[in-house]
Parts: sequence; structure tokens; C-alpha cells
Amino acid sequence: MSPQSNCSATEPGLQIVADISSGELVGEGIQRVTRAIKDMKGIFRDEKSRQSLSQDAVVYRVQAVYPVGEGEEGGLFWGTTFIEPGMVGDEYFMTKGHFHANRHRGEYYMTVTGRGALILMDENRRTTFEPMHPGSLHYIRANTAHRVANIGESVLAFWACWPSDAGHDYDSIASLGFSARLRKVNGIATLVEEP
Ligand code: 6PG
Ligand code: NI
Repeated sequence: MSPQSNCSATEPGLQIVADISSGELVGEGIQRVTRAIKDMKGIFRDEKSRQSLSQDAVVYRVQAVYPVGEGEEGGLFWGTTFIEPGMVGDEYFMTKGHFHANRHRGEYYMTVTGRGALILMDENRRTTFEPMHPGSLHYIRANTAHRVANIGESVLAFWACWPSDAGHDYDSIASLGFSARLRKVNGIATLVEEP
């Protein structure tokens, strides 16, 4: 096909550009959420360490586009999560983590920049993790809780694509947690079973 083939967009699409080097979404209608240290009560093992940190320090932020309403069937959402480098005790800065409220909904993640770990827990509470590095693609199965930790020294950014009727169940994680935590042991990110 000629590079000058007669092809022009007739319908305005999303009008959003995802910067492939930073992951940043640029355009109209982007929703933003920021989670600071003060929003992460009960997430990390070492609550005293969390309290000793600057409460306004940003742990992660999310940019997302919702072309259809949340909860509507049949749509897809797209978002970037940026996790700062940092530690709370021996745990890396990480997302809260969730199951999808509609348990029969999966998701894709793709790492844009940085180094991380995708922590997954299945319905039998078996926890595993997948290393994240630029370009790594991760398929999160239905019925699987997911959380991401930044194990590197720079910002970790990853893209996510999830169904519009997935929703988020944070309460199960708030009450029972994951069955294992990713902790820095002798300088190495290690999954340690909870007692
Ligand atoms: C989703 C995605 C993803 C996630 C963020 C923040 O289902 O929306 O998994 O966008 O929400 O990475 O993580 P938490 O939702 O666990 O805070
Ligand atoms: Ni999700």
C-alpha cells in the first residue's frame, strides 16, 4: 500500500495520545486519581513506618479514559499507572490492589518504563508474581487479585486495559490482604508468605 494512500479519519476517535516513552496520556477527558502515603493506611505491613513518612508524598497516580459509563457492559477502559520509587519498611511502594467486583473479568497490563512486580492472587489465595520491565505484557485472569510494586529506582509506568463492567473490590483486600507480601530481603524482592 502506498504510504500516501487516501485515508482520512472521518469520525473523531478518542483524541488521546499515549506517550510511548513515559506512558503519559495526553488529550481531552482524562480522569486522574492520586494515592499519597496518607491514603494507604492498612496496606503496608509496617504501619509505623508509613506514619513516619511525609503524608502527602505521592505513592502512585492513575490516568484513565472511560469512553462509556463505568459499569456499562461491552466497553473497554484504558489507563496508565505511575508508581514512584520508595519503600514503607521493607515493602516497595505499590498499588492498593483489588479483585474486580465482577470476578469474571480479566485485564491486560503492559509495562512502559521502570522495573516492577505484578503480584497476583487466585481464588484459592495462591499468590505469585511476574517481573515487569519495559514491554512486558501481562494477562490478568478473571478471579485474580492484582497489585503492582515498583522494585526499581525510577518511576514505574504501566498501561492497563480492562472491561467497563469490571469494577473494583478493594474491601476483600483491605480485610484479608494478599496471602504473601513482596518484601526486600537482603536487597532482593522476595515474596514472603503472611503468617
Ligand atoms: C483497574 C486496573 C488499574 C488499577 C491501578 C491502580 O482495574 O482499574 O487494574 O487501573 O486500578 O493500577 O491500582 P488500584 O486500583 O489497586 O489502586
Ligand atoms: Ni484491575
